[in-house]
Amino acid sequence: MTGFSHRVEQVSISGIREVFEAAGEDAINLGIGQPDFPTPEHARQSAIDAIESGASDAYTSNKGTRSLREAIATKHERDNDLDVDPENIIATAGGSEALHLVMEAHVDPGEEVIYPDPGFVSYEALTHIAGGTPRPVALRDDLTLDPGAVEDAISDETAAFVVNSPANPTGAVQSVDDMREFARIADEHDVLCITDEVSEHIVFEGEHRSPMEFAESDNVVMVNACSKTYSMTGWRLGWVAASHERIERMLRVHQYAQACASAPAQYAAEGALSGPQDQVEEMVAEFERRRDVLLDGLEDMGLSVPKPAGAFYAMPKVPEGWVDAVLDRGVVVVPGEAFGENGEGYARLSYATDMESLHEAIDIMAEATAVVE
Ligand SMILES: Cc1ncc(COP(=O)(O)O)c(C=O)c1O
Repeated sequence: MTGFSHRVEQVSISGIREVFEAAGEDAINLGIGQPDFPTPEHARQSAIDAIESGASDAYTSNKGTRSLREAIATKHERDNDLDVDPENIIATAGGSEALHLVMEAHVDPGEEVIYPDPGFVSYEALTHIAGGTPRPVALRDDLTLDPGAVEDAISDETAAFVVNSPANPTGAVQSVDDMREFARIADEHDVLCITDEVSEHIVFEGEHRSPMEFAESDNVVMVNACSKTYSMTGWRLGWVAASHERIERMLRVHQYAQACASAPAQYAAEGALSGPQDQVEEMVAEFERRRDVLLDGLEDMGLSVPKPAGAFYAMPKVPEGWVDAVLDRGVVVVPGEAFGENGEGYARLSYATDMESLHEAIDIMAEATAVVE
């Protein structure tokens, strides 16, 4: 029998999925990684119009329609004060494909990729798939990534380091000074900084800034998506922005693996990015209310939790047996070790669930905590 590639044998199915499969049907799900809001009506309508007119029947340009890439460039000018040429953007099948393109185009077998631990599960897996060697680094006590730790981990083998803010699974938001440091490190060490900004709008304290704003070289590649901001996870539309040279290399992967992002999704994304943004603000305000309720609940249970300043996750420290006790009582949470070795002793709780369920889940978690401690 034909064997399997060494690269793929190093990757396993995400531990998050295992938790979901173990959960009962009427469990309250605090494991979910997507907003529980509808996609904005005007975004849906843009796709409907494109389908009805036939505009989305054919392949688009490999990079995506010119009008979508112009909408993305306008978004970067509006939100990030960044001047991005629409030619230097590739529309992808979600942030996931964007991350894949970056790794495939920049990582050679044996080269290292530095990323936060605990961190989003794709960083390790995509490093393996590119033939690279994962180099996880531990976080600060407040669960942010220390630029000093990244700099210490850089070696002659380093191909790239990943910055993710606001972060999954921690909800941590990097400071402006940190982002400036990441840019300096990318410039001075001449290594690639992959900045994953898919939750850039979901910030409650501080502000989101991109290392791309501060870099003097072209060593920063930005990954973004409509998935979280516009509650469009099912549409599969993200993008990567980088220098012309880097985009040209990533396009070689995208062209053959994907051809182009789904055309209806491209039209929906264009509608979302160029239409009214008030739904984003409403969603963020609701997430902040839920975060506060969850933090109060966790503190009342006596669990210590670094205050998450963004995204829709909290990551409390939990006693041994806590995750199982909570799962047994019908609340789905994800064990911290699903996000890396240093996640052990933590759990990721997503508050992308309605307030009533959240209150119910807090009561159940309090009961479990009392039993475990
Ligand atoms: C930090 C981070 N980056 C990228 C992604 C991938 O997003 P998408 O659904 O757009 O592929 C996710 C999804 O959970 C994420 O949390």
